Amino acid sequence: MTEYETILVDRKGRVGIITLNRPKALNALNTELMTEVVAAAKAFDRDPEIGCLVVTGSEKAFAAGADIKEMQENAFPEVYLDDWLAPWDELSRLRKPVVAAVAGYALGGGCELAMLCDILIAADTAKFGQPEIKLGVIPGIGGSQRLTRAVGKAKAMELCLTGRMMGAEEAERAGLVSRIVPADELLAEAMATAETVAAMSAPAAVMMKESVNRAFETTLAEGVRFERRLFHAAFATADQKEGMAAFAEKRPAEFTNR
Ligand code: CAA
Repeated sequence: MTEYETILVDRKGRVGIITLNRPKALNALNTELMTEVVAAAKAFDRDPEIGCLVVTGSEKAFAAGADIKEMQENAFPEVYLDDWLAPWDELSRLRKPVVAAVAGYALGGGCELAMLCDILIAADTAKFGQPEIKLGVIPGIGGSQRLTRAVGKAKAMELCLTGRMMGAEEAERAGLVSRIVPADELLAEAMATAETVAAMSAPAAVMMKESVNRAFETTLAEGVRFERRLFHAAFATADQKEGMAAFAEKRPAEFTNR
């Protein structure tokens, strides 16, 4: 497996695990970490033996944001011409589902990275926020857009304009988080969820993710039409025949991802 400096990469069965690993900087997202996360995620996405990804951090921090010390001297022409931070967008194009397992701080780019994932499971210690305004900037990896879609305008405006952090319970109430678990069970719960997803028919899981994501990109009528086309396409898979035969025969399905 490729060696990385700022992340740990592991696999368990059909689940690929990426652990952010800059503990001294609370997993601040510097350019090297961005490059490595994107490379590792894309490698898992291409790997037919992997069905689902987990992205996690440490007990204290999922990630405390973009690396402030790295970016403080940045100048407009360079960041603009480089379209700096755009590589993170590649995570939104991953085809396989990604589970974010968040404990501790998920601030700024850390909150944005969690929101780039598909299922967000939070430890009871998780704290979410977009504090960029306190640094004289605004979010740059989609925070103002994805947070607003997840929690609505009122709460997104308040969090983004004041930089206030919200705890796991508030985040779950607001719809940002799918589930809260005790901190010491976070990884096990995230892995169990990822293993469940990875055991589904891979084509169905990819269709499912694509279809849910479509809800954010189009009108209801177009989204329903898109879903129906993929639903029809699912009948071209061997897994549809297997899944339905298994139900009729009262046995577990054995998907072949075909
Ligand atoms: N960038 C660089 N270094 C960071 C960092 C960041 N985002 N967050 C924490 N660190 C570093 C600290 O500088 C410190 O390093 P030293 O020991 O060398 O001083 C180390 O991590 C530990 O941090 P603290 O001592 O501050 O830990 P704490 O427990 O007292 O506080 C915290 C934790 C509240 C998360 C605090 O570290 C903090 O406020 N961090 C910054 C959060 C932030 O503003 N994030 C947004 C960044 S901008 C962004 O993300 C833009 C975007 O949209 C892409």
